[in-house]
Amino acid sequence: MKRIIFIIISLLLIPSCSSRKTEIYSPDKNIRLRFNIDNEGFISYNVKVGGNIFIDDSRLGFEAKDGLNLSNSFEIIKTEFTSKDETWEQIWGENKVIRNHYNEMSVYLANEDSVFLTMRFRLFDDGLGFRYEYRIKDTDKIILTNELTSFNIKENGTSWSIPASFETYELLYRTLPLNEVDNANTPFTFKATRPQDYKTTSKSEAIYASIHEAALTDFPEMTLRLRLTKDERQKVKGFEEKFRVQSSEFKVQLAPYPDKTKAIFEKDNFISPWRTIQISDKAVGLINSNLILNLNEPCVLEGDLSWIRPMKYVGVWWGMHLGVESWVMDERHGATTENAKRYIDFAAANNIDAVLFEGWNEGWESWIGTSETQGGVSLHGFDYTKPYADFDIDEIMRYAKEKGIEVIGHHETGGDVISYENQLDETFRWTKEKGINCVKTGYAGSLPDNHNHHGQYNVRHYRNVVKAAARHKITLDVHEPIKATGIRRTYPNMMTREGARGMEWNAWSEGNPPEHHVMLPFTRLLAGPLDYTPGTFDILFENSRHSPLRKKWNGNDKGNSRVNTTLAKQLANWVILYSPLQMASDMIEHYEGHPAFQFFRDFNPDCDWSEALQGEPGEYVAIVRRAGEDFFLGAATDGEAREIAIPLTFLEKDYQYETTIYADGDDAHWETNPTSYKIEKKTVSSSDTLFIKMAAGGGCAVNFKTL
Ligand code: NOJ
Ligand code: CA
Repeated sequence: MKRIIFIIISLLLIPSCSSRKTEIYSPDKNIRLRFNIDNEGFISYNVKVGGNIFIDDSRLGFEAKDGLNLSNSFEIIKTEFTSKDETWEQIWGENKVIRNHYNEMSVYLANEDSVFLTMRFRLFDDGLGFRYEYRIKDTDKIILTNELTSFNIKENGTSWSIPASFETYELLYRTLPLNEVDNANTPFTFKATRPQDYKTTSKSEAIYASIHEAALTDFPEMTLRLRLTKDERQKVKGFEEKFRVQSSEFKVQLAPYPDKTKAIFEKDNFISPWRTIQISDKAVGLINSNLILNLNEPCVLEGDLSWIRPMKYVGVWWGMHLGVESWVMDERHGATTENAKRYIDFAAANNIDAVLFEGWNEGWESWIGTSETQGGVSLHGFDYTKPYADFDIDEIMRYAKEKGIEVIGHHETGGDVISYENQLDETFRWTKEKGINCVKTGYAGSLPDNHNHHGQYNVRHYRNVVKAAARHKITLDVHEPIKATGIRRTYPNMMTREGARGMEWNAWSEGNPPEHHVMLPFTRLLAGPLDYTPGTFDILFENSRHSPLRKKWNGNDKGNSRVNTTLAKQLANWVILYSPLQMASDMIEHYEGHPAFQFFRDFNPDCDWSEALQGEPGEYVAIVRRAGEDFFLGAATDGEAREIAIPLTFLEKDYQYETTIYADGDDAHWETNPTSYKIEKKTVSSSDTLFIKMAAGGGCAVNFKTL
C-alpha cells in the first residue's frame, strides 16, 4: 500500500529531479548552498563561499528504530523559494534592533516508507541554517537513533572548541588543527585557509566560521565527531564515490538517552533544531552576527513585559566558593538576615539593581555526593519554599523593597529535575508572592535514572522551567544549563545562563587561564549571554587564603587557586562577556572604597547596540556597547602583552565625550603584579583614535559619557 501511494505521488508530482534548481545564494551572493539527491535518493548538500567549495558534499538525514528509512530513497516532490528582509526588535540584547535578511529554499521530499521531509535552508549574508521537518504517515511514535548530518570542511585550518561532553560545558578550550579535533561541542569555531582564487575584497587569509544550532527546544543537543566510522560508511554503497571525504569531515553526535536512542516523539512528525554555520571574513564578524536569534521564533510572551529587565547584581556567593562562608546553616552561613541587609545596603549605595542569595533554603546538607534516586526521584532534599531559620525572608524582602533593590532567588536542584519539575508552579508562585522576580537555577549533580544533562529528556525539562517561569513572570539565570541556542528571542525571560567554565573555577581549581576570556567571545558567547560572573578584585585571595575557614570543599583545589587576570581585565570582562544580568562577583568588602569599582557603578547592562571591533580567538578582543547615550568598551588579551589602536568612529559625530579609562598599570602582569591599574580621563570625539596598552593577561575598560 505504502509503495502504491508513493508511486502515485511520484508520478503525479515528480518531474525529473535533475531539471530542478536546488541551490540558493545569500542576499549578497557570497554564499551558495546546493542540495543534492542521487539516483538512490541519498540526500546531501555543499556550500561555496566566494565561489569556492567551503563545505564539500555532506550527508543529510537520520536513522530511526524499526527500520524506518529517514535518509534515502527520496524523490523531490517540489521546491519553493522565498525571501525575507525585515527588522525586528527585542526588549533586551546585545542589539535591540535586528535585521533579518535571508533567502530560503524548501525542498519537499518523499520516499517509499511514506516519509515526507521538508528540508528548509536559509541563507543570510552572515551564514546559513537548515533544518529537517519530517512527517511519517500512519505512525504514532518516532524513535531516532542517529543523525547523519555532516560538515565536510574542504580546507584544513585552526579550530577553537571545548570537547564534546553530554554532561558539562565547564571545560577548557583547545586550539587545534581542524583535522585533529576528535570531537567537539558547539559553537565550534574555526578558520579555514582561504583558497587562492577566493573572491573577496577582504585582506583576511581565512574564512572564519562557527557551527552551532538554533532553536533547540525538543531535541537532544548536537555535538560533533571527526570522521564517520567504518560502519557508518559501509551502510552507504559506494560511500567514497558519493561523498568526497575531506580531511576535516565532522558528523553530528546527539546526546543519547540511557538506552542509547537519541530522540523520542510520541507523534507522527518532528522538526529538528536549525543546524547553523556562521561565516565571516573576520573573526569578529562571527560575534556581530545575529543569525542564531534570527533563526528562532518571535517572542510569544504578551502584554506588559516590564518585569523582564537587565540588571546589575552582587550576591552572597563568592565567599562560599572560597570556603570562607557556607551554603549550609552552620557557623559560616552566608545567607543570614544580617548579611543579606549588608548586601542590600551596598547595592543601594552603589547603583546596583539586585542581590543574589545562595544557601538561603533548606536542603544544602545533602547537596554534594547525593545522586542516588528512589522511585525516580533523587534524594536531594532541596525545598524551594523553606528558608533556613536564620534567613528571615519576609524581613529581607521588606528591607530590599524599602531600599529599591531586587532580590534574585536561587534554586540549586543538584540535578534532581523530577522533584523540581513537580514543584515548579507551586515554587514559582511562592517566589513571586514573596516579591522575587528573578531566579538563578543550578543543576550541579547527576540526573535521575542515568539521564545525561544534555539529552532530550533534560532539554524538555529546561524548556518546561522557562515556560513555568514565564507563567509566573519570573526571569531566569540558569547554571549548568543546556547550551544557548537563541530561545531567549521566543522567551525573553530566559535571560542568561552559565554553560562555560565561569569564575567559580578560579576559587577551587587551577583556574581559567588568561586565554580563556578571549576564547569565550568567539565560541560560547556566539550562542548567547553568559553568566560568567566577572569582577574579582581580591585576585590573589589575600583576604581569604590564610583564613582558617578556607577549606577545599570539592577536592579540585590544587592549593594554588587565584584569578588569572589583571584587575583591569576583570572590569573589561563586564563589557566583553555579555550578560543582561551582570554580576560583580567578589565579596562586597573588596569593593568598598576601591576607585576601580566606579566602572561598575557607572556600567549599564541594558545596552541598545554592540559591535566587536577587533580580535582573534584566544588572543585578544575589543568590544563596544552603547546604552542610552553612554558607550562602554572592553578590551582584553591572553597571556601576551599587546597594544591596540581603536578608531572611535562608533561615537556619535559632532559630540564630545568624557572618557574614563581603566587600564593596566605600567608594571602590571597577570602573574606577578595583577592588581596594578591606573585610571585616566580624556575628552575625545569620533575622529580620535584610542591607543590601548594591555599587560600580559590584562585588559582595559572605558566609559564614554557625552559632554
Ligand atoms: C554551581 C554554580 O555555577 C554556582 O554559581 C553555584 O554557586 C553552585 N553551583 C551552587 O549552586
Ligand atoms: Ca557551574
